[in-house]
Amino acid sequence: MICRKLHPRKIDSIMKRILLVSGLIGVLLGAGNVFAAGDAGHIEDISFSYEGPFGTFDPEQLQRGLVVYQEVCAACHGLKYVPLRTLGDKGGLDLSESAVKSFARSIEMYDPELEDYREALPTDNFPANDSVGAPDLSLITKARAGFHGPEGTGMAQLFQGIGGPEYVYSLLVGYTGEEKEEAGSLLYGNTAFSGGYLSMAPPLSEGMVEFADGTPSTVERMAEDVTAFLVWAAEPKMMARKQMGLISVSLLILLSILLYLTNKKLWAPIKYRKKAED
Ligand code: HEC
Repeated sequence: MICRKLHPRKIDSIMKRILLVSGLIGVLLGAGNVFAAGDAGHIEDISFSYEGPFGTFDPEQLQRGLVVYQEVCAACHGLKYVPLRTLGDKGGLDLSESAVKSFARSIEMYDPELEDYREALPTDNFPANDSVGAPDLSLITKARAGFHGPEGTGMAQLFQGIGGPEYVYSLLVGYTGEEKEEAGSLLYGNTAFSGGYLSMAPPLSEGMVEFADGTPSTVERMAEDVTAFLVWAAEPKMMARKQMGLISVSLLILLSILLYLTNKKLWAPIKYRKKAED
């Protein structure tokens, strides 16, 4: 009896309806996000090379990002959770061993054991920096969410991703040029920052760094490159994770096909006997 009630074709059509309805709800809620920007600031969606299941970091972009970070951002920000030696990792910046060493030598850091400053070694992390109270950037692309769905449904995140990197990019290019003084400190107008004003002066201006590969250093170029670098800093093993994911999904698909065929073969005698009886 139960078998007749839940005929496979019936289950199939019920499942299809459920999928269709939930898909429609998703699309509607996702579209709602366009109208629900609210106070959260304007976040631009840009496509980075590492996005998607087959996306990879672009080592040259990360290397340019490192230059921007070191020459501009490091004046106020730290990157204390990122070991310098990882600059040589494959799938990331892919710097040679001697390049990592000479980059480390260019950094002066305080050594509490020596109670003095010394040149950094590849075994050190990037220095922390509390000089102006700016947040550490090691995990900033993970810490900040860019896209917010309506009423916290999570639909915008499902369709567009969490948007931390997009937030950092939009922040860097989002200065309006307005300034105001509040409680004795100067605040700068920014379309991405929630509230519209923050205490970081516009850090980037055209041509302020020189890229070794000759790429023109526009504000957008530097913002995108330093953001990609910060994404790498927050998740240096992203490529390995994606590769493992792809392998696991492929194996699961293979396993599903084998199970399906086994199932068919196993039940075949019973099915055919039934047909013969009919
Ligand atoms: C002159 C100092 C200075 C420089 C240079 C600087 N920053 Fe900042 N940054 C700050 C300060 C101060 C804050 C805290 C702002 C606030 O909360 O009002 C901040 C905040 C931030 C934030 C966090 C905003 C948030 O949502 O809380 C990000 C991201 C950021 N900076 C990225 C960068 C990047 C990338 C660079 C290099 C291109 C850079 N900054 C260069 C001083 C600086």
